[in-house]
Amino acid sequence: MRALCWGTGGELAVRQVPDPELRNDHDVIVRVRLSATCGADLPLLAGTVPAPTAGEVLGHEFLGDVVEVGAGVRRHRIGDRVVVCASVACGACWYCRRGLPSCCDNGSTDPTASEAEWGHPVAGCFGHPRSAGGFAGSHAEYVRVPYADVGAFAVPESVDDDRALFASDAAPAGWLGAEGGEVRPGDVVAVWGAGAVGQLAARSAWLLGAERVIVVDRHPARLQMARHHVGAETIDRRDTDVTARLRELSGGRGPDVCVEAAGGPAGENLSLADRFTGRTRAPDAVREAVYACRKGGSVFVLNGGVRRVDAFPTGTVVHKALTVRGGRQHGQRHIPMLLERMARDELRTEHLATHRFCLDRAAEGYALMRDRPEECVRAVFVPH
Ligand SMILES: NC(=O)c1ccc[n+]([C@@H]2O[C@H](COP(=O)([O-])OP(=O)(O)OC[C@H]3O[C@@H](n4cnc5c(N)ncnc54)[C@H](O)[C@@H]3O)[C@@H](O)[C@H]2O)c1
Ligand SMILES: [Zn+2]
Ligand SMILES: [Zn+2]
Repeated sequence: MRALCWGTGGELAVRQVPDPELRNDHDVIVRVRLSATCGADLPLLAGTVPAPTAGEVLGHEFLGDVVEVGAGVRRHRIGDRVVVCASVACGACWYCRRGLPSCCDNGSTDPTASEAEWGHPVAGCFGHPRSAGGFAGSHAEYVRVPYADVGAFAVPESVDDDRALFASDAAPAGWLGAEGGEVRPGDVVAVWGAGAVGQLAARSAWLLGAERVIVVDRHPARLQMARHHVGAETIDRRDTDVTARLRELSGGRGPDVCVEAAGGPAGENLSLADRFTGRTRAPDAVREAVYACRKGGSVFVLNGGVRRVDAFPTGTVVHKALTVRGGRQHGQRHIPMLLERMARDELRTEHLATHRFCLDRAAEGYALMRDRPEECVRAVFVPH
């Protein structure tokens, strides 16, 4: 089959690779309908996280049709149209049973690598190197989906492909930012980043009853989308003192909940030092969120691509009685609810698919998302 592979020099190219096969009873094989780029891929391209080895297939946000089913699979049949959670979890370990599938002990082909990086093994992600999962990605004609009863979900007939695709990663990530930040009715919520994840965090905050939702970014076209499609207020950080403006918009206190959904080090503003240390640039969105947040409020961090941030204001967390949490999305838990909301038209996502390419032109899609000669929120690839 054809797939977008990582090359020896870090370049991307569509190549012929072997078709995936069922490896155990819980697998299904999915024939990909759509597969999308993600901000989480950009640090791979920038070389700030361990790069995939040559030949590995990229991509983790996808939807397709089940074409083969392992003997132990209960919930899926050949022909089902499914959206697949971007991360891989077993559904049975201590963490999965406690509702933390992205912390799964059995969701990686090389748990010792993620343990060395993070202190504990965590769930892997499709289309990432061995240290972050080691499962072949979705920018391909077919994908092997392990633990299919846990991570693949039938899409309601009324939800079309362009909408359901975002249930794979961006929608559950946005939902986690708002829910994990404990948005309550009447809250003022600020979101850093107007990419797909930030926009869907903003939308989730509305759904959880926020009274005011404010999105911060530096890209006018993305901010315009956040206003038009999400109904958020926006702050263009290029010409505004973000912290002061957020105070004005929150009765002088600061937002109750701050969600960080900002892109990690990518093409923009990435110094050579950033590249080598895996550290991010200043002003960092997490640091700004901690300073802006009201006393006793909460900050939820979604960007896992930045491994370390210099000068983290621990004193501010203590003196302002903040709750700071983070997490990777728990789609295994949230996707059915998100698909229901999509079916009810409460959650619209199709505007995020700004560009469409046949799979053979996938490398162009990444270049567009990374270099942004024009605004590209998600490039979506069509393999068939
Ligand atoms: N936790 C999860 O489960 C999960 C899942 C998917 C993506 N992510 C992460 O969420 C983040 C957003 O993903 P995306 O696909 O929307 O990425 P994206 O790259 O499309 O968008 C990120 C946006 O953040 C903006 N930004 C960068 N620095 C900023 C700052 N200091 N203040 C305000 N805005 C800033 C950028 O201009 C960009 O518009 C990424 O870091 C990604 O790795 C997390
Ligand atoms: Zn993603
Ligand atoms: Zn598990």
